[in-house]
Amino acid sequence: MDFSGRHCRNQLVSRLRLAEMSLHSCQNRVSDPDFIRMKEFILANTRPGGTPLLGNNIPLHLAAEDLPLWQAGERELDKLDITPPFWAFAWAGGQALAQYILDNPVLVQGKRVLDFACGSGLQGIAAMKAGATEVLAADIDPYAIAATKMNAALNNVSLMTTSENLVGRSSPDWDLVLAGDVCYDAPMADEIMTWLHKLVTSGTQVLLGDPGRTYFPKEGLQRLISYSVRTTSALEDTDVRNAGVWELLPVTQK
Ligand SMILES: C[S@@+](CC[C@H](N)C(=O)[O-])C[C@H]1O[C@@H](n2cnc3c(N)ncnc32)[C@H](O)[C@@H]1O
Repeated sequence: MDFSGRHCRNQLVSRLRLAEMSLHSCQNRVSDPDFIRMKEFILANTRPGGTPLLGNNIPLHLAAEDLPLWQAGERELDKLDITPPFWAFAWAGGQALAQYILDNPVLVQGKRVLDFACGSGLQGIAAMKAGATEVLAADIDPYAIAATKMNAALNNVSLMTTSENLVGRSSPDWDLVLAGDVCYDAPMADEIMTWLHKLVTSGTQVLLGDPGRTYFPKEGLQRLISYSVRTTSALEDTDVRNAGVWELLPVTQK
């Protein structure tokens, strides 16, 4: 093996950066008592189960209508000091992206993958199951990080996590970025898409899963597939969503 080549050096630098990032995020984020508290909350408010599109191929700790979290309004969540529990649901765009990865493992095999805005961690878990070299699952909500760790354990895969906000970071560490269901809020979608476009322009592949959210971009993408995903009208405004998987294209100069 040639350890003197530029490629090897880059790989080493990138591994060190990832190691630093995990260490940094462990030190600054979820101390053990915090993780134990979040884990107890997640266990009390979710039930392990499959998702409508992937079935039991990837079980997750998910909210169920008979559990208190489902009934909680914003005020109750505020009292508990937790943000809306996106991590307790497998969103339609994320399910589509995860299914597409399982169906096309070549997309992730041997690659370093970022599951951006991971929520439950579904796409990162799919990437590890499909043969990714490593996955960093990132979400600014510490509960999402705790849920992702628990869901990874449920699926016997290991991945790295961070609650750092990576938006704006350049991407020497990732060959592929997955972003499931991130276009439900205007400023957030705008900021994230601007960043993802920069990553694509610098050579990182970016795949998005989206069920037709209002702020999903109308151009600069190529649709790879769509799936009908069963949802509940309590969560979405319909019982079925048509969720697409899209590849973000580099911006062409005019
Ligand atoms: C609708 S959920 C999607 C979760 C998951 N990707 C899926 O498809 O099921 C959106 C997630 O984006 C996360 N998020 C919002 N802004 C973020 C940011 N700047 N960096 C990382 N995660 C972010 C939220 O905390 C939430 O977990």
